[in-house]
Amino acid sequence: MARRNAKPIRVGVFGAWRGAGFAQLALNVGMTPVAVCDQWESRAQQVAERLELTAYSDFDKFLEHEMDAVVLCNYFHEHAPYAIRCLEAGLHVMSETAACKTLGEGVELARAAERSKAVYFFAENYPFFATNQEMRRLYQAGEIGECRFAEGEYVHPVTAAESNRLAPGLSHWRNWLPVTYYCTHALAPLMYVTDFMPLAVNAQAIPRTPEQLAEPQVRRNDISCYMMLRMDSEAVFGLNGGCNGLSGHGNWYRFQGTRGLMETSRVGHMGQVRVVHEPFNLPEGGSRERIYTPEFPVAKELAARAGHGGGDFFVMYHFAQAIRKREQPWFNVYRGLAMSAAGIQAWRSALDNGTAYPIPDFSDEAARALYEKDQWSPYPEDAGPGQPPVSVKGKIEPTRTQRAAARKAWKEMGWTGEG
Ligand SMILES: NC(=O)c1ccc[n+]([C@@H]2O[C@H](COP(=O)([O-])OP(=O)(O)OC[C@H]3O[C@@H](n4cnc5c(N)ncnc54)[C@H](O)[C@@H]3O)[C@@H](O)[C@H]2O)c1
Repeated sequence: MARRNAKPIRVGVFGAWRGAGFAQLALNVGMTPVAVCDQWESRAQQVAERLELTAYSDFDKFLEHEMDAVVLCNYFHEHAPYAIRCLEAGLHVMSETAACKTLGEGVELARAAERSKAVYFFAENYPFFATNQEMRRLYQAGEIGECRFAEGEYVHPVTAAESNRLAPGLSHWRNWLPVTYYCTHALAPLMYVTDFMPLAVNAQAIPRTPEQLAEPQVRRNDISCYMMLRMDSEAVFGLNGGCNGLSGHGNWYRFQGTRGLMETSRVGHMGQVRVVHEPFNLPEGGSRERIYTPEFPVAKELAARAGHGGGDFFVMYHFAQAIRKREQPWFNVYRGLAMSAAGIQAWRSALDNGTAYPIPDFSDEAARALYEKDQWSPYPEDAGPGQPPVSVKGKIEPTRTQRAAARKAWKEMGWTGEG
């Protein structure tokens, strides 16, 4: 995919679990992976040996490595401070979700990105499913008129055993994440298709049942939520989940416009798009209903082999393109922060019985400055007066038996950290 004679972009990955995939994918987009950093040293070593990279366990040393770009695949809630360090060092950054842990951190990140000449790319991959790229193309060509309502759904149930495996350590972010926070997989495709930005959010959370709370794992957050966002176009977006832990693993997206409907198919397979018109808004020569399987717009084979419906390939592809063109990508810092802020403000709403909360415009200094001291955080390292619980039911402690089950699972996977 690289232009012939284009200088390879040297990239390092921070976090060797999800990061391992990006190091491999870099090779397909004209990047050269050069370094990997993880405090879980055996993980970093494995990736380093497979791809001939230099392994680090310490971020400061990793940052000194000769490279042009960094992919941040460390913990969900710790991206902003590392992104700021990279931007200040002149390194291009691709950051996994979320962009920030608090609104105050978001303000700092927006300011740092503006001070830097480097690219900031928010790595939302779900908009790059073939279906979602096709729906963006259709929408931008006017197929359904103006979108007035859209719905996004991200359903990802896990067993207790998977839950423990994915979240080693009692303080691991997955064990503390309020259910609205991981909303980007549901929201980003809706924003990408329409170009709309969120202004305000309200949410209700769905707590775990007593049976779900008794499972042999240590998560204490709720099982799902519903979020409603008012967009800058006056449209309303609904999100089923943050991350919905109920049954029916998958993703669905639906757009209702002034002249038609388009959605990912709920019957058959998820790779289909369905477009519907009424007799009174049928385009000339068009059909009332069509259902088809779209292809990726470029790099079909490489994308088809990549994870998350090809999305993992496309985030690296667009990251490399943005660096080569020296321009900020569509998934820039402001959109990344808007999505992350939607999750945070939705949690305030869920704890306040669904009252609407504003989502700051991080591109506007006057608007964002109001939030610069906002360090409201559910994570254990920030515990203290005024900080929120991770369930609408309040603080729920895992039992001794549940901790023991989780610790056994972590030991089996080679986890040597605390907790
Ligand atoms: N977009 C997607 O589809 C998708 C899928 C999975 C994960 N993710 C994101 O990827 C990120 C990483 O998730 P994950 O699933 O790999 O699990 P994870 O968060 O458990 O892994 C993070 C890795 O980073 C390492 N790490 C964290 N802080 C470090 C530090 N200070 N120094 C050195 N190493 C450090 C950890 O040891 C761990 O191996 C998260 O932000 C998550 O949201 C995205």
